[in-house]
Amino acid sequence: MLKRFSVSLEEELLEKFDGYLGTHGYSNRSEAIRDLIRTTLVNEEWELDSEVVGVVTLVYNHHQSQLQERITELQHHFYQLITSTTHVHMDHHNCLEVTIVKGKASRVRELAEGLIALRGVKNGNLTMSSTGDHLH
Ligand code: NI
Repeated sequence: MLKRFSVSLEEELLEKFDGYLGTHGYSNRSEAIRDLIRTTLVNEEWELDSEVVGVVTLVYNHHQSQLQERITELQHHFYQLITSTTHVHMDHHNCLEVTIVKGKASRVRELAEGLIALRGVKNGNLTMSSTGDHLH
């Protein structure tokens, strides 16, 4: 079943999109949008399956009860992904922990999201990178 939804776009972007329709042989916008959405979703699925390297950065207060234990527990659960971990004592209370990871993007994301979501983590992020070789 087809459903309708409306999209708001800047005029300039819409003009470019209409140009794209012309050069790619689309007879209407809906058809082009459907294809673009499908392509994006497939790419994402595929990206989740590719091998990446990444860095998980965490800043947290080590006085937060159970936090250090939970971090260690999660890291052990995903030990096959972890290449190395570096811990820096930033000041009396705060720690910086950088974990270098390597593996399937979906697993890497799972580990990073788990760590970042832990109570007491003040700041956390994941940077992923790959050789890009699989793109060719
Ligand atoms: Ni520390």
